[in-house]
Amino acid sequence: MTTQDPIEWVERDRRQLHPVYHPKSHANPLVIERAEGVWLYTVDGQKILDGMAGLWNVNVGYGREELARAAYDQMRELAFTSNFSGMTNLPSIRLAEKLAGFAYQGLNTTMFTSGGSESNDTAFKTARYYWKRVGKPAKYKVIARRGSYHGVTLAATFATGLEKYHTMFGPPVGGFVHIPAPNPYRYEGELRAGETVGQAAARALEEAILREGADTVAAFIAEPVMGVGGVIVPPADYFPLVREICTRHEVLFIADEVITGFGRTGEWFALRHWDVKPDILSFAKALTSGYAPLGGIQMSDEIRETMESAAESEAYMHGYTYSGHAMACAVGLKNLELMEKEDYTARAKRLGVRLLEGLKSLMEFPFVGEVRGLGLLCGVEIVSDRETKTADPATAMKLFKAAQERGLRTRPLGNTLAFSPPICISEDEVDEIVKRLGAAMDGIVP
Ligand SMILES: Cc1ncc(COP(=O)(O)O)c(C=O)c1O
Repeated sequence: MTTQDPIEWVERDRRQLHPVYHPKSHANPLVIERAEGVWLYTVDGQKILDGMAGLWNVNVGYGREELARAAYDQMRELAFTSNFSGMTNLPSIRLAEKLAGFAYQGLNTTMFTSGGSESNDTAFKTARYYWKRVGKPAKYKVIARRGSYHGVTLAATFATGLEKYHTMFGPPVGGFVHIPAPNPYRYEGELRAGETVGQAAARALEEAILREGADTVAAFIAEPVMGVGGVIVPPADYFPLVREICTRHEVLFIADEVITGFGRTGEWFALRHWDVKPDILSFAKALTSGYAPLGGIQMSDEIRETMESAAESEAYMHGYTYSGHAMACAVGLKNLELMEKEDYTARAKRLGVRLLEGLKSLMEFPFVGEVRGLGLLCGVEIVSDRETKTADPATAMKLFKAAQERGLRTRPLGNTLAFSPPICISEDEVDEIVKRLGAAMDGIVP
């Protein structure tokens, strides 16, 4: 235990610039000293239930001895070596082997990265590479959805469909086109008579491909359940239609499963809910439950083949110093072993139903517009008027603060509060989330 006062830590923290920074949002940070299970402990003695599993990633919970041991053992053996072609290491071999076909059949090749943004940049470059190799170099554009979040490298920033991430970083990187997301609660695109939201949103994709010219579109990227954009669960007919449209127009389908991958939604990977397979898969976060920075993409056998048959002048000149980091891969392997042993897909499904039902009981508060979720990934949308569905981000922010005062960490995403707790969470702890959020709601009712 540290003896220092939190104010002093906050003062010393000024030498660090934090991600997505504004002085207002970092005026009074929580100073975390340690964590165990689903609980965070601050230097000034607060105990907080982490309803977000860090940043949607600490699936097995905090303080797992097995992962600390895996990192220690691997670091003593070999922490790092170059993984650039011409050299490899045992944990990266084992992890890529374990991942082959793990998410989706036919996706048997992994390229490792250090996180989600790098994974998406890798996905875009891999799509371009593929089309060049098959003789269609004019296919370079990427279609994404409004409200999507794909990370903050320059390309991922402009793939992202949330304008606040663009404002201070323009001019935009070219080649990204945005279409409406399949949001059943508030669909912003054109909805024709007799059409479902899933059909309308899929039609928007086909129209965008035709408008841009299929011969210029390399890929479509989508989060199976939109995370940062407000936890948007798509209607069941959307992704099967998307898959069919992408195939018909020769557009690669990139699934950004950086949040939804590795059990979060009750399936190992979320497109399985709709029996759909992508051509490229981006993942990161829960592969190591946040114990080491590690991400990657997986590609179809067809894409991999173009690399095997390339001339030397067409080598795949992409990769990172930390691609296939030995310690991180060893942690990833151990983490996957734990999640499989502890049956995390069934666990996320079961506890997700409990969390969703609990959160739905809060519909008694007039400012709760909608409660939605899939597995242990839920959103509570706050509105000032249920009839008009008027978004109320100010009340969502008040609730976020009121919940934190009651020892519950959620995340305000516009007017939606997100919940994505560690999958190791117990029934009682799920109920505790609902109880504390309910108390926070009671506390702000005038
Ligand atoms: C869907 C999605 N893609 C990509 C990213 C970016 O990942 P990272 O922050 O590891 O670069 C995130 C991060 O939250 C995400 O939610």
